[in-house]
Amino acid sequence: MVGIKIDGVLVASSVKDRVRKAIVELKSQGIEPCLATILVGDNPASATYVRNKHKACAEVGILTKDHKLPPTISQEEMNELLDSLNSDNLVHGILVQIPLPDQLGEFETTSRISPIKDVDGLTPYNVGLLSLGRAILKPCTPSGIIELFDYYNIDLEGKNIVIINRSNLLGKPLYHLLLQRNATVTTCHSKTKNLEKICQNSDIIITGVGDRTRFTLIPEMIRDNAIVIDVAITHLDGKLVGDCDFDKIIQKASYASPVPGGVGPMTIAMLLKNTVTAASLSGNVRR
Ligand SMILES: NC(=O)c1ccc[n+]([C@@H]2O[C@H](COP(=O)([O-])OP(=O)(O)OC[C@H]3O[C@@H](n4cnc5c(N)ncnc54)[C@H](OP(=O)(O)O)[C@@H]3O)[C@@H](O)[C@H]2O)c1
Repeated sequence: MVGIKIDGVLVASSVKDRVRKAIVELKSQGIEPCLATILVGDNPASATYVRNKHKACAEVGILTKDHKLPPTISQEEMNELLDSLNSDNLVHGILVQIPLPDQLGEFETTSRISPIKDVDGLTPYNVGLLSLGRAILKPCTPSGIIELFDYYNIDLEGKNIVIINRSNLLGKPLYHLLLQRNATVTTCHSKTKNLEKICQNSDIIITGVGDRTRFTLIPEMIRDNAIVIDVAITHLDGKLVGDCDFDKIIQKASYASPVPGGVGPMTIAMLLKNTVTAASLSGNVRR
């Protein structure tokens, strides 16, 4: 029996509907949600990501401020810009597009963002809150994955879930979100032994490697009716793909998310949601 395709575009549009309603409410209180983005250099993929984020903001009625910086910018100049955005009452969310050039520290840069404007949920303060189960601004891709589970009424309690990724952006925050839902979570990475066995023992497999020359999730690695969430975005034979071949995996899984059209649209939708949340936090701070 073929499984159910998890439709990220559909779920993202339901998140955007909620965001639009929240924006109407905020505007009635005189708050115009605004996201400032910072793009350093001319990496075409990063430029496309930022452009898509601006487009999505415009669609729901979030204002944007676009900061394009030369690739040679120093850490001091970056810090000055971040400080000015932190103290700008008309800016509610700040997003620094990663990767950054070598002279800029990723940790130093993201740490400089005010936690209440940290729409990527990457500042040490928000990472700490997440591990305590008290985060308000959570990283977009992991929280988008939780939204997918909720939309499809997939109960996580007591489930064996494997995450194949341990990055700060994905695997680590997702671990906490799943644990908070009472799942039993295993985090795997490039040094994990017996990955195939761990996958076969899992009810849910969330994979985010992004390099088919190193890893492909094949149907033989999953049990019947497993749930597969493919987060990876990579190119294979000129096509955009994830870590698995969706058409093959869906023959064995009960649910699977495709690439594109699965997790990707959720990441942007959750950025919009976080921006609106940050705007409401600013309202609370002012009162
Ligand atoms: N859909 C979206 O919105 C979205 C959002 C974010 C990321 N992504 C995609 O997700 C992928 C991961 O992103 P990232 O930023 O987390 O990248 P990353 O930091 O490079 O993480 C890749 C992870 O895969 C692990 N890995 C590498 N080879 C492996 C192997 N043979 N077996 C098991 N694990 C292995 C790495 O382990 P080590 O830690 O040991 O190196 C690492 O934890 C990329 O394709 C990215 O484009 C998509």
